[in-house]
Amino acid sequence: MQPNRDIRRHHHLTLNVGVAQEDYDFHTKLLGLKSVKKTALYDGDEPILHLYYGNGTGDPSTLITCFPMRQSGRRARPGTGQIGAVALSVAPESLPFWKARLQQSGRPADESERFGERLLRFTHPCGIPYELVGVARDGRKPYSNGALPEEHGIRGTHGITVSVRELEGSDEFMHYGWNGQHRKEEKAFIRYELGDGGSGTIVDFHLEPSRVQGSWTYGEGVPHHCAFEVDTLDVQKHTKFHLEGLGFTDVSDVKDRGYFDSVYVRTPGGALFEATVSKPKGFLIDEPLDLLGTSMQIPPVFAHRKDELLRVLEKVRD
Ligand SMILES: [Fe+2]
Repeated sequence: MQPNRDIRRHHHLTLNVGVAQEDYDFHTKLLGLKSVKKTALYDGDEPILHLYYGNGTGDPSTLITCFPMRQSGRRARPGTGQIGAVALSVAPESLPFWKARLQQSGRPADESERFGERLLRFTHPCGIPYELVGVARDGRKPYSNGALPEEHGIRGTHGITVSVRELEGSDEFMHYGWNGQHRKEEKAFIRYELGDGGSGTIVDFHLEPSRVQGSWTYGEGVPHHCAFEVDTLDVQKHTKFHLEGLGFTDVSDVKDRGYFDSVYVRTPGGALFEATVSKPKGFLIDEPLDLLGTSMQIPPVFAHRKDELLRVLEKVRD
């Protein structure tokens, strides 16, 4: 059995959050990310807002995207079988700056260490655990026109932590299906890095054998999925074919998400992963760079309900 070597790094992380303005302020004002796109979920009958944050150009591995779910009243149940924590990369010397900033903002952080990395743990307003990890080697450039000095800026994703009751199926999936290499263990955590490894490629599994299964639906308070970058649509097609050949048959068809094309796979540990190909124009397909993320972009599938979406979906203010 040949491992798949085509999964590169994180593309975006997608979370089910609470109130839209609270989420917007948390990501743009406190964490200093840029609003990259305001749109809606491309699936389902009920319109759900979809907010994207990242660096200045919304590059893969800098993106966090959020569905504010409070308006719908749908809540999630945290547990195993899903992504639990979101880790982002900052310079190690920026950790004191961030500790003070989080304290002042009323979101105090605990200091911790895992796999030799210092980190700050705090929570998103909807309860999702966040970590800022001090990473010495990371060439990604933070957003420079945001709320904070560039040297302290968030460079992008560092890793995700997936909570599972047991590891065996996930280990097989990561090794043969998802380019998971450089396996390391520390207490109840098992780390995989994709490809060449490093910040932006990390998938940690947290073994929690007695914790109940969490929910998978759209509902406030849990991450929804993690997307990973693949180079081309042909590679994406082969990735689906390869996974199905391994017996991981819960793989979706290609979904057009406007800014990228997505294939989803329900992994054996329960978390939802995505293999993603950015479209050539990416986020500039419907807005110029200087207006990126400033106005609502209606998904083509909802074009006939544009007035309704503009009326009913929560508005966010800078
Ligand atoms: Fe996605």
